[in-house]
Amino acid sequence: MPTILVIDDNPTVATALELLFSLHDITTEYAATPDAGLARLRAGGVDLVVQDMNFHTDTTSGEEGIALFHEIRRFDPDLPVILLTAWTHLESAVDLIRAGAADYLGKPWDDGKLLATVNTLLELSSTRRELDARMRGDRRRRDALVDGRDLRGLVWDDPASETTLSLALQVAASSLPVLITGPNGSGKEKYAEILHANSAVRDGPFVAVNCGALPNELVEAELFGAEAGAYTGATRAREGRFEAADGGTLFLDEIGTLPPSGQVKLLRVLETGRFARLGAHRERSVSVRVLSATNADLTAMIADGRFREDLYYRLNGIELRLAPLGARPRDILPLARHFLSGRTPLSEAAERALLRHAWPGNVRELRNVIQRAELLARGAAIEAGDLALPAAPAAVVDQDTHEPDRVEIEAALSRAGGVLAQAASDLGLSRQALYRRLDRLGIRRD
Ligand SMILES: Nc1ncnc2c1ncn2[C@@H]1O[C@H](COP(=O)(O)OP(=O)(O)OP(=O)(O)O)[C@@H](O)[C@H]1O
Ligand SMILES: [Mg+2]
Repeated sequence: MPTILVIDDNPTVATALELLFSLHDITTEYAATPDAGLARLRAGGVDLVVQDMNFHTDTTSGEEGIALFHEIRRFDPDLPVILLTAWTHLESAVDLIRAGAADYLGKPWDDGKLLATVNTLLELSSTRRELDARMRGDRRRRDALVDGRDLRGLVWDDPASETTLSLALQVAASSLPVLITGPNGSGKEKYAEILHANSAVRDGPFVAVNCGALPNELVEAELFGAEAGAYTGATRAREGRFEAADGGTLFLDEIGTLPPSGQVKLLRVLETGRFARLGAHRERSVSVRVLSATNADLTAMIADGRFREDLYYRLNGIELRLAPLGARPRDILPLARHFLSGRTPLSEAAERALLRHAWPGNVRELRNVIQRAELLARGAAIEAGDLALPAAPAAVVDQDTHEPDRVEIEAALSRAGGVLAQAASDLGLSRQALYRRLDRLGIRRD
């Protein structure tokens, strides 16, 4: 049940209000002086204040009411305060509304209007409290996730990314082989680094092999090594990447391009931990955590015989699926700012354009777009035109050009302790964009 504190020197006012509120399941408490009122507030649990402007029958200046209001604001910048004032002192009430009071009512008041105002304000502040609690929860979860981990500079804000990261950190410590899937430029290699950096073998080597960058006949030599003379041009014995990764992590990128003979050999190492260099009889054994990545549809490749199903199950101890950037829109602006490293601001129009674009090339495309735009902007703010993104964004769902409302903005401001730049970044807005909204909504900047 919400609690309203009435601060008024006239007990009949309090009695009348108490009766009115009790009919609507609202508890009323009463203080006859500003000091008693403030003491009651400090004790906590008050959801709304109704205050008088004069506290002595012989004063009408409203100064005591003004002073009380400012004390209340100092104690709690968000608490809704309704001023009860004689109609002759409207002016100071209007000043206080500008200073953040929620509303005023002339004595005698209209019960219906007072109740409507009270209900709206109570609802608003409970929404705000819920939002605050949720934000605090988000932050706590995030801190717990990051705690002591090396995230290799990963930038994220979207809940979808948090889910992915949390799964990654959970499996990092195990020795399970992880198959990282996701479209081009979505961060597969970045995640491979994170898995290694948080694994039991983080002090061992991290060796990455791009299976797609090597001609078929060299992939096996690259992976398993070769003795001198094992193939044309092999003049000296060479160590393979499996040996190089012993005691650490081997990251097999673009695993879908591995030719069939390589697939067989790889399967064998994964099953036995043993392999031989090309042209050698002696088998070697290694202890290697294997991570692999692909943007290909391996199940489709299995179906038409291009990828071994048994190998797929060996590699896929667990699958880490990276969402395309367009499916985690809250990552877009933080990533853009990260690639700018804070030197060049983004105009509001540029931010909107970034949020509207579909990002078929994902994070890599975003990085390239930002780097090019920064060059074009030459130190000035980046404008939408500098991004050179296609104009017609027809198919993109605009779920995150979401316009923050007053409650969200105020919540962000209070979380940021009034630091506008911080609140703006929290809201995914530029500072200028936040200023404009504060003006429009009449929210004070201090
Ligand atoms: N969440 C992120 N935070 C910071 N940087 C990121 C993030 N995701 C990707 N990057 C950066 O974006 C670029 C592309 O990422 P990465 O190379 O990991 O993608 P990929 O999925 O391996 O791409 P491809 O399919 O082309 O191999 C890299 O420079 C990487 O550091
Ligand atoms: Mg890659």
